[in-house]
Amino acid sequence: MNLQKIVVIGAGTMGSGIAQWFTQQMCFVELVDSSPEQLSKALASIHSSWDKLVEKEKLTSCQVNQMKKLLEVKSLDKVSRTSDLVIEAIIENLDIKKELFKNLDEFFAPHTIIASNTSSFPISMMAEAVSHERKSRFVGLHFFNPATIMKLVEVIKGKETDEKLCFDLYQWFDSKDKKPALCKDSPGFIVNRVARNFYGEPLRIVEDESEGKMKEVDRILREVGGFKMGPFELMDLIGIDVNYSVTCSVWNAYNEEPRFAPHALQKKMVEERRFGRKTKRGFYKYD
Ligand code: NAI
Repeated sequence: MNLQKIVVIGAGTMGSGIAQWFTQQMCFVELVDSSPEQLSKALASIHSSWDKLVEKEKLTSCQVNQMKKLLEVKSLDKVSRTSDLVIEAIIENLDIKKELFKNLDEFFAPHTIIASNTSSFPISMMAEAVSHERKSRFVGLHFFNPATIMKLVEVIKGKETDEKLCFDLYQWFDSKDKKPALCKDSPGFIVNRVARNFYGEPLRIVEDESEGKMKEVDRILREVGGFKMGPFELMDLIGIDVNYSVTCSVWNAYNEEPRFAPHALQKKMVEERRFGRKTKRGFYKYD
C-alpha cells in the first residue's frame, strides 16, 4: 500500500491532528472544513506546533519548510479527486456523516479509500450511504487525541470492507510507527467501550461539580492508577460534547445498559456549551 495523497475532512481537534501527522509522514495533505475560520485556526496551530518542534530540535527547519508546502487547506470541491485516502473527522452526528459520505462517494475516484474517524458509530451503518462498489473500500480509522502523539489507530472492518484492505492499512500504519489494532465493528470498538467506565464511574463518584473532588479523583488516577491524565482532565481535552455523543451512542447500541449510561452532568454541560478546553470552560477553567 502506498498512501501519498490524503484528504482530511473536519479541521477540529482530531482532523487537525490527523492532518498534521500524515504531513509529518511526508504525505500530500488537503485539509477541509465547513468553517473557513476553523480552517485558518487549524493551519496556524499546526504551523505553530511545527515551529515549536524546530525550537526543541525535534525537527529541522528544512523538514518543516517541506511539510508546510505539503499541507494545504481548501474547500471540498477543490481537493484532488484521485486522492488515495479520505478521512472524515467531522461532528459525531450519524445523519450529517452519512450525507457527507454520499457526496464523497460521488466525488472521489473509484480507488479512493473512504475512512471515518468516528468514535462510536458502526462502520457498516455509515457504509449504507455509499455505492455498492465503494463499500469494500469504506473503513473505520479511529485515531486518538492528540493524533500526532498517540500511537494507537483502530482499523475497523465493516460488514463489506475488504479484509485485505484492512490488513494493508494495518501494515502501513505499523511501518509508520503507529500501533494499529484490527477491530470488530462493535459499539465503541475496543477503547471507547472500555473507556466508558473510566469516565462514568468518576462522574458517579463526584456527582456534583466540586472542583476539590474532581482534582482528587484526577490526582489518584494519575499518581496511583498510572494514567497519563485523570478522567476529568481527559474529558476536557476530548471535548464534553464529543464525549457525551459517544456515551449516548454506545449506551443506545447496548440497549441502554446501565453501566454505559450518560451522566446528567455531561448533558447539563453540553446544554451550557461548556465543552472543555476548546471553549475554555469544562470541568476546569482554561484562561
Ligand atoms: P471538533 O468539534 O473539534 O471538530 C469537528 C469539525 O468538523 C469542526 O471544525 C466543524 O466545523 C467541522 N464540520 C462539521 N460538519 C462538517 C461538514 N459537514 N463538513 C466539513 N466540516 C464539518 O470534533 P473532534 O473532537 O475533532 O471530533 C471529530 C470526530 O472524531 C468525531 O467523529 C469524534 O467522535 C471523533 N473522535 C474524537 C476524539 C476526541 O478526543 N475529540 C477522539 C477520537 C475520535
